[in-house]
Order: sequence, then C-alpha cells, then structure tokens
Amino acid sequence: MNVMIIGSGGREHALAKKLAESPKCEKLYIAPGNGGTHNVGENLSLDISDFYAVAEKVSALKIDMLVVGPEAPLVEGIREYFEGSEEFQNLMIIGPGRLGATLEGSKDFAKEFMKRHGIPTAAYSTFQRGEADQAINFIKTLKSPYVLKADGLAAGKGVLILNGEDEACREIELMLEDGKFGAASSKVVIENFLDGIEMSTFAITDGEDYLLLPSAKDYKRIGEGDTGLNTGGMGAVSPVPFAHDEILKKIEEKVVAPTISGLKKDGIPYIGFLFFGLMIVDEEPFVIEYNVRMGDPETEVVLPRLKSDLLSHLQAAARGGLKSENLEVDDRFATTVMLVSGGYPESYEKGKKIEINLDPTENEILFHAGTKRRDQSLVTSGGRVISCTALAETLASALDKSFKLAEAVKFEGKVLRRDIGKDLLT
Ligand code: AMP
Ligand code: GLY
Repeated sequence: MNVMIIGSGGREHALAKKLAESPKCEKLYIAPGNGGTHNVGENLSLDISDFYAVAEKVSALKIDMLVVGPEAPLVEGIREYFEGSEEFQNLMIIGPGRLGATLEGSKDFAKEFMKRHGIPTAAYSTFQRGEADQAINFIKTLKSPYVLKADGLAAGKGVLILNGEDEACREIELMLEDGKFGAASSKVVIENFLDGIEMSTFAITDGEDYLLLPSAKDYKRIGEGDTGLNTGGMGAVSPVPFAHDEILKKIEEKVVAPTISGLKKDGIPYIGFLFFGLMIVDEEPFVIEYNVRMGDPETEVVLPRLKSDLLSHLQAAARGGLKSENLEVDDRFATTVMLVSGGYPESYEKGKKIEINLDPTENEILFHAGTKRRDQSLVTSGGRVISCTALAETLASALDKSFKLAEAVKFEGKVLRRDIGKDLLT
C-alpha cells in the first residue's frame, strides 16, 4: 500500500514511524512532514488546506490510504472533497467527514450528542450572540470556578477557567458580544467545573466496531506544577498508573461503547481515530472533550506501545473487518518530554540550530515536531520542537531515559518541564 500522512507534528512522526514498520507499507509520504519524518518516508511540500493540491499528489503517487493527522482538514471537509470525485472512490481515508468532525469542531454539538446518548459529562448550558444577559444570569447560579468554552475551534485557547464571578461575566461579554475568539465564540458553552484527574483514551473505529488504544495522560500547561499558559502539550505518559482495570472498564462501558453506538444511531459515518478527553471524578469517568484525531504528544507514547500492525488496523477500519483485528500492546511504560522554543506558547524565534549528542537506543525515540532541514543541518521551525520518548519496565526508568534524551538535544532557548510524570510516581 502507498500511504500519505497529512500533518507535520510529533504525532505525524510517530504515525509515520509506526506505519513504515508495517509489511503492508510500500511507499510512505508525509505532507508536509518535518525534519524527522524525512528519515522514515518522503516529505511532500504541500499546503494541506489546499485539497486540490493534495488530490494532485494522491493521484500522481497512486496513494491507497490517506491518514489525516490534525483536525482542521477534517472539519474543512477533506473526506467529502475526495468522496465527491469519481477518481478517488477506492482511496481509504482515515478521519471522519465534516459531520463526525463536528464532535471536535463544536463543543455545543458534542455536548448535545453526549446528552442524547447518556454519556457522562459536566452539566451545561449554551448561549449565543445576543444572549450575554442570560449567560450572566446563569453564571450567577453557579459556584466558582466557572468553565467557559468557545463553541468552535480556537487553537486550543477557547476554554477559560475563572475563579471570580465578575471576571467570568466580563469574559462572557467579550466572547459573545465582542468576538474574542472570532466566529468560534459566537456560541459559548458554560459548564460545571469537574474536580478530578485528567486522562485520555483513544479508539480506532469504522463507525460500528472499535479497537481501544492504550490510555495516556498529558501535561498541558507550560510551567512546572501545572502553571502558566496552556500549550499543545509538554509531555505525556502511558499507561496511566491510577487508571486501574475497573476504571478502564467503566470508560469503555460508559463512554467509548455508547459514543460509537451513538454515532451509529445518529447516522454519522465515522472512520478514523477518536480521542476521549476525560476527567475521573471519584473513580467515575466524565467526558470533557472529543477530538477527532490522535492527541499530540499522546501519540508519541501510545503508538510506541503498539506491537500489532497499525496499518492493518487502519485498513480494516476503512475496508471492514475491524472486528477480527487484534490489538497487541507492550506492557511497558512509555514517557515523552517535549522540548519547546523559548517563548512558546506565545511568540518565539525559529531557525535555531539543533544538535543531537547521542545515538538513541531501540527504546529511545526522538519524535520531531517543529524541526526542518536547512542545508545539511537541522533547525527549529515551530513552538514544539522535539518529543523525547522512552520505553521501560517502570515509569521512573522511562522518565529517566526521556530526561536523558532531553539533555542530549541542544538548541538555543530550549525549554522543557522537568516534572513530567513525577506526580504519578509513588
Ligand atoms: P478542552 O479544550 O475542552 O480540553 O479544555 C481544556 C482544559 O480545560 C482541559 O484539559 C481541562 O483541564 C479543563 N477543563 C475543561 N472542561 C472542564 C470542566 N468541566 N471542569 C474542569 N476542568 C475542565
Ligand atoms: N494533547 C492534547 C491534544 O492533542 O489535543
């Protein structure tokens, strides 16, 4: 099979590495890819929002499977674009169509879906432009902290958790009436604060059956001790030590299975990855968000633990037969520590030379994110630069190895969180 992966982050490098290992993989392309994917397949210089340009390459390179990494092309209808053309009727596409992608593209749609199918989530109300007064009255009935969510995609910045009632009321006006997040905040979901521990789990589905991938915990804030601004993710751990079998069983029964059957009942076709962002409160799972893709950096700890053939699983999702696929998972711990550019998640400089002073062993992997080749060298080209993944029998030794890798990669302004996974060590 010839495979094209869309995207350029650490997630796409991890997907590329895993798919390249499959005996079913002939040619592997990553569009646009990064300085690391270059070593596992061929990078294609493409604007991924230009579906016409993507389609030209899919045709010229005789691509059999298109794996869509990020959410934006899905929300923008990349599946419909290909399905609408005679030429691409046999193309396997990993990622849902527009309607399925709305589970991530609209918080209100996701909440309605959960309510309809009895999937545990925080109680909420949604308000539209022109309804700021009603929203403020609603806030006054709640207890602090207040959780305000812009309905649409807002580059990971659309969720505000505020302690003060006055501040929450002011923000509601900014979001609903002053377009703080543009069109994304023309609707706002206000929901109850859930006090618990966060974790995520992931499934591959064909809309009927699913394979449950290992769970993971990520670290979203820039600062140690979970302080400062939200980022795309500063590190991750899999498995999640507190998520014992009983919790995993509840997640599967109360969240994953009803979500897949809910998609079916609603007539929403869905082929691809589904990411369940969860809060565990008193040993009970609540969904805080759906994403219609894999997480980043969660993929960098989930896929290294997958022993079975990912390409075979994805082929079965696209063609049928997912039921007879068996997922095999490595029992060891995987950890990843993200190296980011100084200033991220706000403004930062690019083009810093990257030096890597070690040869990773089999159980140590550097997944590239914001890197690119310039002449013979490697330079930074984004906020998140390299994800340092390690596998080991214990969480502590996996973390040791990840931090050792993190030390061995050098570039000006490098920032990392040294407390990744430390809260989970007992
Ligand atoms: P989201 O973009 O929906 O993942 O939200 C961003 C972050 O806000 C999550 O990772 C949680 O840490 C936090 N969050 C979202 N919803 C809630 C909630 N209802 N209660 C507590 N924290 C929340
Ligand atoms: N790490 C969180 C995400 O990918 O959305």
